[in-house]
Formats: sequence, structure tokens, C-alpha cells
Amino acid sequence: MADTLTITDNRTGRTYEVEVTDDTISAMDLRQIKVDDDDFGMLSYDPGFKNTASTRSDITYIDGAAGVLEYRGYPIEQLANNASFLEVCYLLLKGELPTASEYEEWTYEITHHTFIHENIKDFIDGFHHDAHPMGMLVSTVAALSTFYPEAKDATDPDTRHLQMTRLIAKFPTLAAFAYRHSIGWRPAYPDNELSFAGNFLNMMWKTTELRYEPNPILEKAMDQLFILHADHEQNCSTTTMRTIGSSDADPYSAAAGAVAALYGPKHGGANEAVLRMLEEIGSVDQVPEYVHRAKNGEFRLMGFGHRVYKNFDPRAKVIKDLAHDVFEVTGKNPLIDIAVELERIALEDDYFVERKLYPNVDFYSGIIYQAMGFPTSMFPVLFAIGRIPGWLSQWQENLLDPAQAIARPRQVYIGERDRDWLPMDQR
Ligand code: SDX
Repeated sequence: MADTLTITDNRTGRTYEVEVTDDTISAMDLRQIKVDDDDFGMLSYDPGFKNTASTRSDITYIDGAAGVLEYRGYPIEQLANNASFLEVCYLLLKGELPTASEYEEWTYEITHHTFIHENIKDFIDGFHHDAHPMGMLVSTVAALSTFYPEAKDATDPDTRHLQMTRLIAKFPTLAAFAYRHSIGWRPAYPDNELSFAGNFLNMMWKTTELRYEPNPILEKAMDQLFILHADHEQNCSTTTMRTIGSSDADPYSAAAGAVAALYGPKHGGANEAVLRMLEEIGSVDQVPEYVHRAKNGEFRLMGFGHRVYKNFDPRAKVIKDLAHDVFEVTGKNPLIDIAVELERIALEDDYFVERKLYPNVDFYSGIIYQAMGFPTSMFPVLFAIGRIPGWLSQWQENLLDPAQAIARPRQVYIGERDRDWLPMDQR
């Protein structure tokens, strides 16, 4: 049997042979299907791109039915339990885990790019005291593009590597500086003696001590949480990063767009929305009432459901286990009892089972973040710190893919045509 589709257009009786590659057809092969020769040709219509592959990629593999997630072929469980976040950043960007010497050089590079220009600190000082840190992150990431104009030449590999290093290194600094602004504290500057995660905790929590010493269990948990968020193939914010990058915009501008897309409660903003939902539920005995209301469509169970995972999100399983390590240090967050009960009831209820709604990465992460002392508004910012290496690896792949072009979808026009101008007094 040939790897083709035979399409019969019943409007004309014509048939077409279309190549099948990797279980896909090229949308451009549909354009030959016409009724009249001067027709534009057939398009596929796919709002939300629910059934459209936008690229070929060898970065992240997801099997939504089996609950499998692999970065460059390595299962997420193995990476979360054995690798450091910086090892995973290197893996995503380069395609291979670093050797000891490569890792030492990479760690040195990241450690020595954590500072930001003092003018950016001044921008942060200009925000209102209750500005949402995601709004500050979108703005300051975009502002970075004005400090590194050479970033526009992303085709040069050394320039591209330097910008990607700067973005990975500076996201924690921008995040922590935004947080310190929101509580009216001076920023705590990077400490090059600490690990990536340890330095982030230093910039968040350092007070009067001469040198901040991160709790090793919380430092490890923070690093693992960054790993679990590092990439997730063609999600909304990654598609945004690729789309902006497809116009040859610089990576800082593309990353600012990706942060903006992540901010939405249907995406990375869900971890913040989950916490607010659990706090609103308030106690385990209120869970059945809220499940009933969700089934009535009164609201969505935030942290549940996924476009790709249709039985479980492997990240949610790892994060749920991670919670117990953190609670050993911080004390148990009582909201986890509500979350566990919500998960138990939902997974037994036909409404959720029929719709294949299971806890996703955002369902348990916020409970851990809150126990670690992060304010709810910082939760999507933590997601962004983890995701920046994924956005960059996908942006780079898009930039280097000869099959790619500037993103410019078509449309089905359903509006009016050929209308004549009416003067104001005749409308
Ligand atoms: C992330 O894409 C990624 O990979 C994202 C991410 C990543 O790492 O980048 O994994 C991170 O964004 C995780 C998702 C976080 N978002 C949430 O937890 C918000 C709540 N979830 C939903 O809004 C929803 O499930 C989505 C947005 C995640 C997925 O939406 P889809 O695939 O477009 O599904 P849908 O909205 O078409 O819903 C299908 C059905 C609908 O019911 P019917 O209209 O068919 O009767 O399921 C229902 C929805 O109403 N439904 C829910 C629900 N999610 C979907 N009902 C109740 N609660 C929910 N959470």
C-alpha cells in the first residue's frame, strides 16, 4: 500500500493523490483541490490548532495517551531525579547532556550573566507597588532587547548562544527583583558562590545575613521544579515564541511575547488560579459542592485538563511526590488535603473521566510554591524561569529549520463585501 491519501472531491468528481509523511499530509497539498480553475484552492480550518502540526522537532516528545514526556529522548522522571536544571538547559539547547568540562564551562557562563543593567532596576522601581510580577517580567524581558542590539543577528551562532545564556541567567534576577519591589525591599544581588536555584532563593529571601544559605532540600526542590517546567513541545507560549521568532525579531522580544502568552490562566497562569480556587473551596467538606458546580459549567477546575495529556500529566505525579520533601522543611500546606480530595473525587466522576480531565502540571505546583513562601502572583513567574530554556531551544530550532517561514495563517472570511461609503448623516 502506498503512503498516500486518495481524496475524491464529490463536488467535481475529481480525485487527488496526497503524500502521507509521519502520519501527516502537507496542508499545501490541499490547494490543488478546486472547483473552478481560478479558485484559490482548499485550506484546512483548525481554530486553536487542535489538529495541526506546525513543525518537525527533535526537542521534546509527549505521548498524551501514555503520559510520557521526554526531553531529547530522556524521560522527565529520570531528569527530574538525577539532573540539575542547568544540565537540562544544556540538553535542550544542544541536544546532548554536557560532559563534566562542558558543564563546568556552561555553569560559569550562566553564573557570570546573572546581573542586569541598573537602568532595568530603575524600570522595576517605576512599577506600582501592587504591579503583577508577570506584567513586570513581560516588560523587563522586552527591555533587555534595548541593551543588546547585537541580538538581532541571531543567525550568528556565537551571538545566539550569548543571548540565550543571558536570558536563562537573567530570568531569575528579573523575577526576584520584581518580587523585592512588590514588598518594598531593596533587591538582593546575585551570589556567584551559589547554585542556579540557590542563587534565585538568595535573591528572593536574603535579609540582613552577610551571605544567604539556601536550605538544601528547598534548593533541590526548586531546581527540580524548574526541570519539570523546562519544555513542553508546541504549547501556547512556545508557539508564540516561534511565531515572533519567525519574523526574525530578536530573542528578547520573542521571549517577552512568550511570557505574555504564559500569563493567561488557561496556560501558565493556571498555577496561580489553582491556589485561589483551593483557597476559595476552603475545606475538604466543601469539595463535593465545587465539583458539582464545575460539572454544571459554573467554573473550570483549574489545574485540570490538558490539550495533549488524556490520562495523566507525568509532571503532576513527580510534583505531588516532591510536595512531601518540601513539607518536611516547611510544614504541611493544608491545601494539599483539599487538592488530594478534589483529585480523588474528580477521577471517579464520569464528567471528568469522559472528558479525560486529570491533574496537570499546575495542579500541585502552587501548593509547593506557597509552602516555600512564594506569593501566589509569583507562581507563573516561577513557571517562566523554568520554561525559558525550552522557549529558546524551540526558537533556535525554528530559526535553523529551512522548512520554516514567517508565520502567516490564512482565514475563512465570513464578513460583508463591496459596501459603499455612507456619509455620517445617512447612517
Ligand atoms: C499548561 O499545552 C501545554 O503543554 C501547556 C502546559 C505546558 O507545559 O506548556 O502543559 C502548561 O498550560 C497546563 C494547562 C493549565 N491550564 C489549566 O489547568 C486551566 C484549566 N484547563 C482548561 O482550561 C483546559 O483543560 C485546557 C485549556 C488546559 C485544555 O483545553 P482544550 O484542550 O482546548 O479543551 P477544551 O477547552 O476544549 O475542553 C474540552 C472539554 C470541554 O467540555 P465540553 O464543552 O466539551 O462539554 O472539557 C471541559 C470543557 O468545558 N473542560 C473542563 C476543564 N478543562 C476542559 N471542565 C472543567 N474543568 C476543566 N479544567
